[in-house]
Amino acid sequence: MGKVYVFDHPLIQHKLTMIRDKETGTKDFRELTDEVATLMAFEITRDLPLEEVTVQTPVCEAKAKVLSGKKLGIIPILRAGIGMVDGVLKLIPAAKVGHIGLYRDPETLQPVEYYVKFPSDIEERDFIVVDPMLATGGSAVEAINSLKKRGATSIRFMCLIAAPEGVEAVKEAHPDVDIYIAALDEKLNEEGYIVPGLGDAGDRLFGTK
Ligand code: PRP
Ligand code: URA
Repeated sequence: MGKVYVFDHPLIQHKLTMIRDKETGTKDFRELTDEVATLMAFEITRDLPLEEVTVQTPVCEAKAKVLSGKKLGIIPILRAGIGMVDGVLKLIPAAKVGHIGLYRDPETLQPVEYYVKFPSDIEERDFIVVDPMLATGGSAVEAINSLKKRGATSIRFMCLIAAPEGVEAVKEAHPDVDIYIAALDEKLNEEGYIVPGLGDAGDRLFGTK
């Protein structure tokens, strides 16, 4: 079964509180989301494999470590996932970025796919799917389905805020996928919004209503 990691680093928690605040405007919401994505990327990459190499320092030859293993890919779920991409790329600048466009049908809350473009070397990469919100889990489950269908075998999911329902849905559909979150909230309301959450992530990020 996939593991769930809650990043309780004080900087992540502080910035997330500012993101939640309804008085936080688009500019600050964007900047804070970017910063939290960077901090979460730092945490999520803790277990990346290393190999030993020899490096010539100005003083002598030394044994030192560099990253080994598969290259990384970042997959934002459009729209709101876009807000986390640059923050992750600050730490992993060579990662390829694929996109999947999904929106939730407001009536059924089911995800509707409208765009897919993934890197061509999909089997050779470890993927991090990013989206600020994991609510019913429909969008995350569908994005991961779409990646697997095209050959991806190593996928993690990273979001700012998750509802218990969304976590369960991803665990059930994709037991091989670990989930990384900044906060696990209480529940979903009747409209499928996370409570207390932060409202509509896409609208707050892009200033739309
Ligand atoms: C939001 C959010 C997730 C999805 C989560 O996107 O960014 O993708 O809802 O909900 P779920 O877990 O119930 O699927 P939305 O559908 O509002 O589209 P947008 O990013 O284009 O605003
Ligand atoms: N999508 C959002 O943007 N916010 C929620 O609370 C749930 C889904």
